[in-house]
Amino acid sequence: MTDPMQPVAYDDGDIDTNPTANPHLNDIIATRLSRRATLRHGVSAMTAAFFGGALLAGCDEEDNEAVTATASGPNAVTGGRMVMLTGAVTSGTLSNAAWIQTSGPAVALTNANSLNASFRAPAVAAATPLGFRLETTSGDGVTTNTAVTVTVNPIALDFTAVPKSLADVVAVPAGYNVTVLYRLGDPLAAGVSAYANNGTDSNFAQRAGDHHDGMSYFGLAATGTAPSASNSTRGLLVMNHENITESYLHPNGPTGLSAGSVRPTAEVLKEMECHGVSVVEVTRGSAGWSYVQGSSLNRRITPFTPTSFSGPVAGNALLFTAFSPNGTAGRGTINNCANGMMPWMTYCTAEENWAGYFRRDADDNARRTAALGAKSVTAFNRYGLGIRIGNYNWTSAAAPAAGDTRIAKFNATVDASKAANGTGDYRNEPNQYGWIVEIDPFDPNSTPRKRTALGRMNHEGVCPGRMIAGVKPAFYMGDDAQGEYIYKFVSNTAWAAADATAANRLAVGDKYLDAGTLYVARFNADGSGQWLPLVFGQGVLTPTGYPTYAFADQADVLTHCRLAADAVGATRMDRPEWTAVNPATGEMYCTLTNNSSRRPTGANAVDAANPRAYVDTKVTGGSSTGNVNGHVIRLRETNDSTEATGFTWDVYAFGAEAGADAANINLSGLDATNDFSSPDGLWFSEPTNTAGQATPVMWIQTDDGAYTDVTNCMMLAAIPGRVGDGSTKSVTSTVQGASATVQARVGKAPGASLKRFLVGPKGCEITGITSSPDGTSLFVNIQHPGEGGDPQNITSNWPANQTGTAAAGVRPRSATIVITKADGGIVGI
Ligand code: FEO
Ligand code: CA
Ligand code: CA
Repeated sequence: MTDPMQPVAYDDGDIDTNPTANPHLNDIIATRLSRRATLRHGVSAMTAAFFGGALLAGCDEEDNEAVTATASGPNAVTGGRMVMLTGAVTSGTLSNAAWIQTSGPAVALTNANSLNASFRAPAVAAATPLGFRLETTSGDGVTTNTAVTVTVNPIALDFTAVPKSLADVVAVPAGYNVTVLYRLGDPLAAGVSAYANNGTDSNFAQRAGDHHDGMSYFGLAATGTAPSASNSTRGLLVMNHENITESYLHPNGPTGLSAGSVRPTAEVLKEMECHGVSVVEVTRGSAGWSYVQGSSLNRRITPFTPTSFSGPVAGNALLFTAFSPNGTAGRGTINNCANGMMPWMTYCTAEENWAGYFRRDADDNARRTAALGAKSVTAFNRYGLGIRIGNYNWTSAAAPAAGDTRIAKFNATVDASKAANGTGDYRNEPNQYGWIVEIDPFDPNSTPRKRTALGRMNHEGVCPGRMIAGVKPAFYMGDDAQGEYIYKFVSNTAWAAADATAANRLAVGDKYLDAGTLYVARFNADGSGQWLPLVFGQGVLTPTGYPTYAFADQADVLTHCRLAADAVGATRMDRPEWTAVNPATGEMYCTLTNNSSRRPTGANAVDAANPRAYVDTKVTGGSSTGNVNGHVIRLRETNDSTEATGFTWDVYAFGAEAGADAANINLSGLDATNDFSSPDGLWFSEPTNTAGQATPVMWIQTDDGAYTDVTNCMMLAAIPGRVGDGSTKSVTSTVQGASATVQARVGKAPGASLKRFLVGPKGCEITGITSSPDGTSLFVNIQHPGEGGDPQNITSNWPANQTGTAAAGVRPRSATIVITKADGGIVGI
């Protein structure tokens, strides 16, 4: 027996022959302790090490061989990156190796029971050390430990900004890949032919629609029918098909568009069916993402799909039609713009520019006044339901068959021979649109529900606030038209976390979306704001309280919430588009895309929340006036509560050209890496992955016409700060000799925390974004590439040209793309 206090790891003579113990003191302690069964099984080696020499004194058994090892990791990383912990044996025979975390926020170690382990650096708000030890055990059962500390910093944008571009391709940063996943016309049902893309295709009720827009990913459980909040390789993509590029849908473009002409019925039905919503199963295999033709969950919802009404307006006479004389049912949804993913795994789609589809003949104001009273004309005018033939002249087409009113329903002209209350014609059909519509994507037979408690407007989208058990949830919405408002709906029912996994998802929707209070926002110049309730009987919302319109009841207030918002004094905004809620802070962001009517003075005068009006020229000629480039406003609820009726606000960033006047236009100091115009799509990465935690990534998509002489539309990534992190600036607007100065509340200049991530092909807008729960796959929609062209003048070949040269004459198609990071990491960070 050798001396128990001698180093033990050099018996074989081919390694460390230095007999001094100092460099490996901890190893020796662990070696000694590892011989004692009670300690081996009852106390960790690291803990036991604190007993020090007193325990060692009792160790006088036979010498066993230990290993010596080195262990290392990076000193510092940013959140979201993969971290390698590397071990190496420098002497001895290894039996087992294990990496064990000893301090800091818990991480999931991959290959923890080996010399080389890895983990994804967690999201942190500030630099945070994480401690680990490598535990190596020799063949003789001797354990040694080596400590490693890795400091994790907050997430950062991990890419080089994409330059502005006019190329006909989707460009993403180096290190990222693009796959085209789901294009206009792609067949959904089994047996449907591939898309010919020459104008001859039909049956769009079983194909992808046009103009892909808002979109959400729902993970699918192994059953293939139920939701999974975590499945990142199989799911349902649910997306809107907002509108059509009619010129590419027919062999030689559409016929009979002008007033007095007659549209062919087949053309009209095809165009109608290209609108609506898709539900499509997608999977990620070894070759990447693809959609599943023939999945039993695939579904198209079109302007013909049966719908039902719920909430306070359901059954009200405002909804009476010949199709639904009791005002509880309808057919379809149209002009579905942005969306909202409900925390109980349903999809909400927003009906935006629905008014333009309706025909009203020249004498309809008189007929309507006679039948329904003057206020019905006031209401129609407030919603832009003017005298017109309607989009695409649809109602000129003959009925598909006797009694088939699918086309006729778009003629809202009063038929004086029918019942005054509208049960005999479609005079009230326009009241059936402009709602948030909830869809259960996991039940292809379910009937979409129009949630009337959330009001009727040009609904851009709907974004839930943070869901906190015991607190009433809020749902934020923009009404996209010049001078319209930002709204929130607060449920009457406090959130119960168990509802997130309830089986009857539309019943959960009933619980949270059918009863509550609709509010509209007023932004004060001092940075405060109020949510003004739109409740019949309160304040001026009575039959006599508002001279412009006599409100009859709550159904009237909700169906005409624009008028109610006018009455209570809401703030007229520069076209509220998407809303998005920072999942870490609860702060709500809203894109204000632009406003060509904003001026220094007059009815559309600048104010603190909409502080810019200017003239911008194009290098290709012409100019734009007003709030040309738009901005992104944000607010923080009082006490960070979704139930609050007050808030503070500022502007996260102002769109601008990099070279624009820094004092009055480029207020956020944008440069060539991040200058943008007309923000529209807005979405935060989800808290199911690092990009949506602590300091989440926000994505901004543009739908622009002002900077398109220099660049196609784009998508940017940002890591925004907090409301109030900037300053107040005095901003002077000057247009055609008129001038005004207001105090703008400008968030901290974003600098490198805002970067251009993607530029789209010619003529497109970028809209619609979602991700797999793990954040490694980002789904983005490219809408209307080649807009403005026609079969004789095709102006884009995208997406056929995404990976090479397209054949001559290939028509463009709206499509969903998937973006992944070449190293498999979380997209963006
Ligand atoms: Fe459909 Fe306001 O964008
Ligand atoms: Ca310009
Ligand atoms: Ca939009």
